[in-house]
Amino acid sequence: MTFIRNRWYIAAWDGEVANKPISRKICGEPIVMYRKLDGSVVALRDACPHRLLPLSMGMREGDNIRCMYHGMLVGPDGTPEEMPQVHERVNKKVCTPSYGVVEKFRYIWVWIGDQEKADETKIPNFWPCDSEGWVFDGGYMHVACDYRLFIDNLMDLTHETYVHAGSIGQKELKEAPLETVVDGDKVTLSRWIPNISPPPFWRDALQKDVPVDRWQICEFIEPCSVHIDVGVSPVENGDTIESHDSGVRGFVVDSMTPETETTCHYFWGMVRNFRIEDQGLTDRIKNGQFKIFSEDIDILEGQQISIADNPDMALRVLSIDSGGTHARRVIEKLMKVENG
Ligand code: FES
Ligand SMILES: [Fe+2]
Repeated sequence: MTFIRNRWYIAAWDGEVANKPISRKICGEPIVMYRKLDGSVVALRDACPHRLLPLSMGMREGDNIRCMYHGMLVGPDGTPEEMPQVHERVNKKVCTPSYGVVEKFRYIWVWIGDQEKADETKIPNFWPCDSEGWVFDGGYMHVACDYRLFIDNLMDLTHETYVHAGSIGQKELKEAPLETVVDGDKVTLSRWIPNISPPPFWRDALQKDVPVDRWQICEFIEPCSVHIDVGVSPVENGDTIESHDSGVRGFVVDSMTPETETTCHYFWGMVRNFRIEDQGLTDRIKNGQFKIFSEDIDILEGQQISIADNPDMALRVLSIDSGGTHARRVIEKLMKVENG
């Protein structure tokens, strides 16, 4: 097993879950989600308690879901409301597992693992995602790679020069020193790049072409998220790594929920606190991110295939890999804690 089970995982964007059932496998478990008539979200194992046909192939009826094989009506708690034979007594013991589910920070979170341990206060704090004065948008992609390869990628700021040469990459990035700090289960990787010309993405955001200071501060948030504090500000403003709010600033918000050991659900987005009413800018950023992340996905899926094809070779760790290496150590440690 490569993931921690007793955790809240993002299963969907809030807008993805509606009246119609949606199916998604999280940490190896097929889950069906839908909204009840009052708008709250239900998460059940996506298998009819009778002969295991996916419930997501069924039909909604009120707050229930009717299996389309023999017609059992399953309630939002996973127990039957009606048996396939109308006169058969309802046996509540024939039921499908249900999951703790919470809607927060624009996402639907599902608790995998022991349900009695589900505690809403353990959801990671993604505060900018639903705070006033910030605007948040993004998307979803299915990616055929181990979620930890994705964490490596996001905790590594050197690949930009090559992978993203046409957008956010620039050669000065390679020259700026990187600092890695480990604080408990938190890993932070940061870089401050003084006095450079802004690359195309940030020039568009700033809407002027003046010398800027640029920063990138990646934070790994266990079990599977990376938030990157990014932006540029004109050199003349005198911002620092501790305080940098005078230019354009945002957080790249990335969560890679494991689907299986070698595939994951990628929830990506950006939250920003400048020009928040500007829908055109929101759309441009979203399109820009889509393009940038598609470049990463080509790399990651190629890497996953190559790892499987070269079982006699190991992943090597160079100094640039320290962010991802520390993040993997945190995951390993927490998995050991979980497994006693
Ligand atoms: S498989 Fe669902 S009712 Fe038989
Ligand atoms: Fe990238």
